[in-house]
Amino acid sequence: MVDDGSPDGFAPLRIKRVVRETSDAVSLVLDVPEHCSHRYRYQAGQFLTLRVSVGGQYLRRCYSMSSAPIEDELRITVKRDPGGVVSNWINDSATEGDELLAMPPEGRFVLRQEVSASAELIAFAGGSGITPIMSLVRTALAGTARPVRLFYANRGRDSVIFSEPLAALAEAHADRLVVSHHYDEDRGVVTAADVEAFIAGAGDADYYICGPAPFMATVEKALLTAGVAKERLHLERFTVAEAPPPAADAGEATEEVVIELDRRTTTQPYRDGDTLLQTARMAGLRAPSSCETGSCGTCMARVVDGSARMLNNDALEDDEVEEGWVLTCQALPTSRTVHVVYE
Ligand SMILES: Cc1cc2nc3c(=O)[nH]c(=O)nc-3n(C[C@H](O)[C@H](O)[C@H](O)COP(=O)(O)OP(=O)(O)OC[C@H]3O[C@@H](n4cnc5c(N)ncnc54)[C@H](O)[C@@H]3O)c2cc1C
Ligand code: FES
Repeated sequence: MVDDGSPDGFAPLRIKRVVRETSDAVSLVLDVPEHCSHRYRYQAGQFLTLRVSVGGQYLRRCYSMSSAPIEDELRITVKRDPGGVVSNWINDSATEGDELLAMPPEGRFVLRQEVSASAELIAFAGGSGITPIMSLVRTALAGTARPVRLFYANRGRDSVIFSEPLAALAEAHADRLVVSHHYDEDRGVVTAADVEAFIAGAGDADYYICGPAPFMATVEKALLTAGVAKERLHLERFTVAEAPPPAADAGEATEEVVIELDRRTTTQPYRDGDTLLQTARMAGLRAPSSCETGSCGTCMARVVDGSARMLNNDALEDDEVEEGWVLTCQALPTSRTVHVVYE
């Protein structure tokens, strides 16, 4: 990780423009200084982690780029979360000229490279979930000949973000882009039948899903039931899933954690309740991390001895977990000693 003097690799990005999208969503165009522009290159679908100070407290939150890499600006779009601290602070207080601390882009919710030119991209967005999907759709339309279908669910017409850019894209690519809006106020929340109807006739396709947890669960289940292969589903979760209950065999108290990082081995006594990442920090190590919500995979490391359980995992595949990989920001040790290696 490049040390630019900011905490944990964060760099200050100036807010170049504030765009009010709807009454409860705002876009921020961020100015990336020339000297670190290489660090802020991103793929469509990725996100930035911001570190903001609200009420004297430092908080980290992830925001996906709503811009596409082909555009010459980097833009994030933030929707108010009722009762949420950072999203409301950004909507109410972010001002042109302010600086925000941001980590370089991360994330695996990206276009597959090895996909065939004719494979359809079918996207399901709910509410603020449109942000990474807008970037993916725009990129697929600009850089490939792939047909694209977008199902976009909102409570009502007032909450649709990017209504005009989407209409313009649909007009410009009428031969291969279908945009279907769903309004709960007209038809109730999205059901499995809505999903099935939308994918009718789909053949070789990749599916991208992002939105509120219940929306994502309905879409994912309906697609799997319709026979879509799990590996063709790409999900980006904005909210952390509920922590799983402690494993039945989680009885053994952990005494120490052995950490290998940058070819140094450190043994740190374990403090009850700490994650492996917190333990590494207690040992004075600069272990990699970004979102700290189990979404980006930056903090992944391999448990080579002992065991740990993750509170949340939205980044690792099942086979990676089987190989011993964990998200250290989410991993609690479950054996007397744990040996973890950052590779
Ligand atoms: C990979 C990723 C990409 C993302 N991209 C975007 C994006 O592009 N656009 C976007 O708008 N969001 C995005 N998010 C979500 C974003 O990171 C924030 O989670 C969101 O803005 C809410 O943050 P907040 O600080 O406003 O809310 P928080 O203060 O974290 O609160 C979240 C919710 O929890 C409730 N809550 C808080 N504390 C308590 C408590 N003690 N008891 C009960 N309830 C409580 C709040 O009422 C609120 O509803 C993304 C998230 C991830 C992980
Ligand atoms: S820091 Fe992002 S998953 Fe751990």
